[in-house]
Amino acid sequence: MTTPPTPPPDEVFDWLDAEAEKRANAGLVRQLRPRPARADELDLAGNDYLGLARDKRVAGAAAAAALRWGAGSTGSRLVTGSTELHTELELELARFCGAQAALVFSSGFTANLGAVTALSGSESAIVTDKYIHASLIEGCRLSRADVAAVAHSTPSAIKHALETRRKPRALVVTDSVFSVDGDLAPLGELAGICRAHGAALLVDDAHGFGVLGEGGRGAVHAAGLSGAPDVVTTLTLSKSLGAQGGAVVGPRRVIKHLVDTARSFIFDTALAPASAAAALAALHALKEEPGLAGKVVENAGNLAMSLKAAGLKASLPDAAVISVQAPSAETAVAWAAACAEQGIRVGCFRPPSVPDGISRLRLTARADLTEADVDRAVKVITATAPRGAIA
Ligand SMILES: Cc1ncc(COP(=O)(O)O)c(C=O)c1O
Repeated sequence: MTTPPTPPPDEVFDWLDAEAEKRANAGLVRQLRPRPARADELDLAGNDYLGLARDKRVAGAAAAAALRWGAGSTGSRLVTGSTELHTELELELARFCGAQAALVFSSGFTANLGAVTALSGSESAIVTDKYIHASLIEGCRLSRADVAAVAHSTPSAIKHALETRRKPRALVVTDSVFSVDGDLAPLGELAGICRAHGAALLVDDAHGFGVLGEGGRGAVHAAGLSGAPDVVTTLTLSKSLGAQGGAVVGPRRVIKHLVDTARSFIFDTALAPASAAAALAALHALKEEPGLAGKVVENAGNLAMSLKAAGLKASLPDAAVISVQAPSAETAVAWAAACAEQGIRVGCFRPPSVPDGISRLRLTARADLTEADVDRAVKVITATAPRGAIA
């Protein structure tokens, strides 16, 4: 084998330019754009489903906590201590979800990394739906477990993978509401299959919490699985609660195990006090206004039906997320930009963020959308649609 030539220091990163060119040719360049504090546009791109991110109770609680506890949490909770805000948030989250205990993380991403890795390992098989969120996929990659990613929303494939596994322990991992098309996993059926095969079930309820279930208690609660001894739920505090951070809720011994072993908890600076206080205030708001959750689902359904009626390839949402298929990555980017120019902010998902390679506009409904908002959005999205997007 010949040794490759040694590049001079200023050529070490030349390969990045080659990769960037490939992405540009495939229409996959990502752009960061400035965001004003107050934008005069209809936001159908963010995940602030209940409109709580700017709620005075929520933002005010964050400000007060920052003044009392400081801007950052200064270290891992195992090193610098756990504030009463963290403890209270965990108690209230667990109670709200009907679980024994909860543990908050600095983000939903780190909650997923911590939960998947700590609940598996080299003696485990992990079986996942192949459309799970990137953070769960990274957890699987880090886990050292045997990982099988099976066809989307196909319980028989999960069952087959469990039956043919070569490891004694098993963990089934799924999103509740999938982030691309907004469809709901068959959680009850999956729990039954897990039980028949001695597997634990880990559900990422990032898009279900605050939106589905009684008063927004989430998809796991709606499926009658809250408090189950073999089910663990991960959450983000950054969507319905309008704050920032993540959590794992489940059996007490699982939470204790995470404190001892989840590296993304142990070696990560704790959730900022301001974020914990904001999430707590948002949870209180949700309890005071339980109707907010149902309103999101209703608005999402109306928006999707109107888009479909206009001939667009829109998914039918089980929660707040709707996708509208675009003919290509380039047309999806141009379509989203054209919507923004006309005051409608929508998301744009392209490979590698879409598991099936189909680029899409991604829309999210909110509790505070009016009928006029929905009409305006449909008008603009239809008028700016590229050739091939309307059936
Ligand atoms: C399904 C799902 N899980 C986890 C996450 C990560 O949560 P966070 O943004 O709080 O890190 C997201 C968010 O983007 C998500 O959509």
